[in-house]
Amino acid sequence: MKTLKAHWNNIFSNKADRELGWYEKDVSQTLWFLDEIPRNTSNVVFLPDAGTSLLVDELLSKGYQLILNDISDEALNALRERTGEKEGVSWLQHDISEPLPADIPQVDIWIDRAVLHFLLDEADIEGYFANLHTVVKPGGWVLLAEFSTLGAPKCAGLELHRYSVNEMSRRMGSEFELIRSEEYTFINPFGDPRPYIYALYKRLHG
Ligand SMILES: C[S@@+](CC[C@H](N)C(=O)[O-])C[C@H]1O[C@@H](n2cnc3c(N)ncnc32)[C@H](O)[C@@H]1O
Repeated sequence: MKTLKAHWNNIFSNKADRELGWYEKDVSQTLWFLDEIPRNTSNVVFLPDAGTSLLVDELLSKGYQLILNDISDEALNALRERTGEKEGVSWLQHDISEPLPADIPQVDIWIDRAVLHFLLDEADIEGYFANLHTVVKPGGWVLLAEFSTLGAPKCAGLELHRYSVNEMSRRMGSEFELIRSEEYTFINPFGDPRPYIYALYKRLHG
């Protein structure tokens, strides 16, 4: 059976960005949520599923330090080719459902657009949230953007676990306060509506 990494590498090596169902030319929806977070360029932002997202370019232009993770080294290579090597950027190829390497520093902001919903086994979902709980600092922020309960049942040929804000909040746990959430319909590059749920959380200070 093909591994998950091979599945994603195959997609990224055979399709142009604009042919990807999740390709977002305009990342304003995410930036609008980030406007809630007091701006501090010493903040470290962790993307568990950077892909080839244009959000990375926006975050770089705002001066953030970034840790860019993805299971697909093809995606990370394409992204690095686009952005060039930048100071303050670390690269990581890792399955986000598995424990992160111990040397990952604590981060101020975690932004996930569309990876959590691919995790189907309870152990993998728990592994994702264990990583999030380990690396997000007290006082830090988490933005989750996943297919909502109204969303399509599959993406990239894979089954999805679709989310309500209630389920997200339950899994985030009582240390995280929900700041804002929104149902948002993304229109994909083929013109099809893809309902997402966006939710921004703040971690309480200990
Ligand atoms: C739907 S794409 C979204 C990419 C990017 N966040 C964006 O908005 O363009 C999902 C991304 O998650 C990555 N991915 C899938 N499963 C993963 C896993 N278990 N751990 C880390 N990354 C994973 C894929 O390689 C892909 O880049």
